[in-house]
Amino acid sequence: MNIVILKNELPDSSKKWEASCKRKEINYSVVDLTAFDWFERIITIKPELLLLKPSGLTAPYKELYDERLRILVEECGINCYPSLKSVLLYENKRFLSFWLKANQVSHPETYIFYKESEANKFSEQRVSFPVVAKTNIGASGSGVSILETKNDLEQYITNTFSGKGASKRKGPNLKKGGLLKRGLKLVFNPQQLKNKIEVYEARAADIQKEFILIQEFIPHSFEWRVVRIGDSYFAHKKLLQGNKTSGSLQKSYENPPLELLDYIKELTDKHDLDSVAIDLFSHNKKYLINEIQCIFGQSDSYQMKVDGVIGRYIYTDTWEFEKGDFNNNENYDLRLSHALLKYNTKK
Ligand SMILES: Nc1ncnc2c1ncn2[C@@H]1O[C@H](COP(=O)(O)OP(=O)(O)O)[C@@H](O)[C@H]1O
Ligand SMILES: [Mg+2]
Repeated sequence: MNIVILKNELPDSSKKWEASCKRKEINYSVVDLTAFDWFERIITIKPELLLLKPSGLTAPYKELYDERLRILVEECGINCYPSLKSVLLYENKRFLSFWLKANQVSHPETYIFYKESEANKFSEQRVSFPVVAKTNIGASGSGVSILETKNDLEQYITNTFSGKGASKRKGPNLKKGGLLKRGLKLVFNPQQLKNKIEVYEARAADIQKEFILIQEFIPHSFEWRVVRIGDSYFAHKKLLQGNKTSGSLQKSYENPPLELLDYIKELTDKHDLDSVAIDLFSHNKKYLINEIQCIFGQSDSYQMKVDGVIGRYIYTDTWEFEKGDFNNNENYDLRLSHALLKYNTKK
């Protein structure tokens, strides 16, 4: 069984998949999908399964990863994990909003303008504020601006289309906490520091000036993060810090309502999204989907606690909670088990 890990432009991007493969004693190769001879390198290996770490830092590399993966999956017929669809939805808020609308999945109403004149007209006619502006790519709240007034919106539109670009945070996340500790850790690890600086520089250079994405403001004190990997389900609350829950790392491990799990199961079954984290607002007795991510960070060593016990939910005829540690290696171990089960591969 030939397995290829497709790393992205970041040097360490294959490491977690590699650790999981080693733990399971599975042979693999690593190919840099951003290399000029990516196609030849991959095809000579004759892979039966591609393990993915999609790009989510800048628009050019996101486009590169999506495009090359489409060739491998759609034209060459190679299996990949997570699925192509989930990669296309990943770190693409614009595409996600179209997808949610087309599939009639409830989400915060989203407006995308490529024409400055249309954006200005929207702004002129807009009565209720705040509104939320988002860059297409941008983890941990870095590209999200809450615009409180018409003036703020006008300024945002002008900045974007004048070439300055939509505003976003370029440096470290000050809200994340432990800044000094994180900074010191980097000082003592020059390679990691260099990688971090490269990430900040890449983000700063990636200016979004072609379009703006505006969303209705949804009042909330938390977002649900629900994870499905194969038959395993996890859920916890991400709590608001300032005006964003993303990147704050403040969690609340509470028992999720089972109807939330029902909702996610139905949605992910229907759309064949079997390895994703879904972030949702609970608003006016409805769930509104905010993000769907096939690869996501994990700040604690677990994703869920029910009555103080770490574990997962599985569905047989009803929901059953199973105690245990299922989120090892930021969920890559669980992903790998699921990928092997799905593609019926032997060791
Ligand atoms: N439509 C919205 N209304 C109100 N707050 C929002 C809205 N969308 C996002 N936010 C807040 O901003 C945070 C970051 O937005 P999100 O879309 O999740 O981007 P990111 O990719 O940075 O996580 C969210 O965690 C949420 O707290
Ligand atoms: Mg988010």
